[in-house]
Amino acid sequence: MSLSFRWIVANVTILIFATLTLSVSSAPQSNQKVFSSFRFGEHPDWEPLRHSSGISPYHDAPGADIEPPQGCSVTAAAFLIRHSSIYANDDEWEEYMQPFVERVKDAKGAFPEDGPLGFLNDWESPINEDNLEKLTKPGIKDAEKFGKRFRKLYPHLLPPKKLGKKKGILDNLKVKVPFKVWTASSERDIGTAKAFIRGAFPKYQEGHGGEGDGKYISLVEVPNKDPNWSASLTPHKVCDRFTKEEGRKDAREYLRNWGPGPLAKLQALAPSFEFELKDVIAIQMLCGYESVIKGIGKSKFCNARIFDAKDYHDYEYFHDLIYHKMVGYASDVAPYLGVHWLNTSTHNLLSADEGEGDHPHRPYSAASKKDPHLPAPPGLPNSTHTQKLFAYFTHREEPPMALVALGLWNQTEVGPLPLDTRQKDRVWRTSHVLPFLGHVAIERIRCDDKQNYIRAIVNGAAQTLDHCKDGPGNSCPIAQFKAFVNQRMSMYGDIEGACKIEQ
Ligand SMILES: *[C@@H]1O[C@H](CO)[C@@H](O)[C@H](O)[C@H]1NC(C)=O
Ligand SMILES: *[C@@H]1O[C@H](CO)[C@@H](O)[C@H](O)[C@H]1NC(C)=O
Ligand SMILES: *[C@@H]1O[C@H](CO)[C@@H](O)[C@H](O)[C@H]1NC(C)=O
Ligand SMILES: *[C@@H]1O[C@H](CO)[C@@H](O)[C@H](O)[C@H]1NC(C)=O
Repeated sequence: MSLSFRWIVANVTILIFATLTLSVSSAPQSNQKVFSSFRFGEHPDWEPLRHSSGISPYHDAPGADIEPPQGCSVTAAAFLIRHSSIYANDDEWEEYMQPFVERVKDAKGAFPEDGPLGFLNDWESPINEDNLEKLTKPGIKDAEKFGKRFRKLYPHLLPPKKLGKKKGILDNLKVKVPFKVWTASSERDIGTAKAFIRGAFPKYQEGHGGEGDGKYISLVEVPNKDPNWSASLTPHKVCDRFTKEEGRKDAREYLRNWGPGPLAKLQALAPSFEFELKDVIAIQMLCGYESVIKGIGKSKFCNARIFDAKDYHDYEYFHDLIYHKMVGYASDVAPYLGVHWLNTSTHNLLSADEGEGDHPHRPYSAASKKDPHLPAPPGLPNSTHTQKLFAYFTHREEPPMALVALGLWNQTEVGPLPLDTRQKDRVWRTSHVLPFLGHVAIERIRCDDKQNYIRAIVNGAAQTLDHCKDGPGNSCPIAQFKAFVNQRMSMYGDIEGACKIEQ
């Protein structure tokens, strides 16, 4: 049997599989089926987790539908993805939740049993010093689901499922370079990437628990603190001018302005407990973290009799302020830290139809455990051109900075974010990009007119670049996109200059 025939067989099998899947669900619901697993079921109109910024299980952004525009199909894609749900972030724990949890421990009986806070009389914190920053069980499941979603959406961009199957028809197919998935080197990133691999690939390709079998699939761990940005998926960790403090300061000031109202509500619910202003945030954070630890709908902190929709909208704004200065348009290093992923990914998407010809394999492209590094600069994570789908798992800071590099949701164009009141018309909305598994992606699509276009996706929702939207579904013609990225590189390419603190 010739090699090409085998590939055809594999692709036909996938096609048949895809057709079957489509025909059982009533058209055109194919993507809805894919998406439904990430919908919150219980409260269609209001759901605190939709307004909890980065402390929320994955959910698609409004308007999500990653069905390619009519007459087009996706031919390559690159995703920058935050890790899945963790027990708690240590800064958020220390500043907000822990002080509240400690006082609750010492005040059993202080909460009226028939009130919405009554459960606190015998509540035990599921978060402790030992599990901080660790992946939760539902978080691991979500990452697997996310992998399954990739398999459904992009079967033609992944190695065929039959590859490597014992006695399968593709058993002996020679694979020169494994399909790679990249991850930052923290446990929560690696665990997420492994779960993703288990979801997207069959058992006989996934290796022991998801690190890849090394032949067909390989997980590449990229050191978090590589001093060289060009070998990093976490450039904020090697940038001296990157700071989280400015945004936190703004958020604290906003809390002082907005918080007294919700604080008074808490005091009315349990007059004998000594609430502090920061408890307003602690309780809303615990709603999010308990939901990703125990499961959606399982946290009594989310009860609307404690805080209502407006309170969560204000809490959402609190987070938007933090991230706007940390990784958004009010950070002058953000576009520099996001643009290299964009440049590399654009390069990969542009080269997706060039084959391996111009891009000889580098020795480390096999990504052995011994040499997990990315290609040398200026490659960033650009890999060899042996694959068309690129998934990079990293930390919460990175996807929003890629968004800034793309110029999307530019709050500066709309106006400043005041600290005394919530800016309702803002475009900077971190709840739509920052949930666990939140992501920014670019897709290359090919359409009936035989032209190629690029579109940006944020949590399943296609985004429009105002200056480049002449393609189908407001996508950007590929040559224009390339010119745009080159222009962004000339503006923001100098990461070393931008990150240097003047002495
Ligand atoms: C990053 O690596 C490249 C190639 O190895 C080197 O030329 C460059 O100087 C390095 N940059 C830093 C900041 O170490
Ligand atoms: C940006 O990508 C292009 C390839 O499209 C590459 O030639 C260039 O070196 C990259 N720039 C940097 C600074 O990495
Ligand atoms: C990475 O990209 C650079 C240009 O940006 C290119 O010269 C190089 O060949 C690429 N590396 C690999 C391994 O393809
Ligand atoms: C955001 O918009 C402002 C105002 O139009 C512009 O000056 C700025 O360059 C934009 N920022 C980025 C990163 O695109």
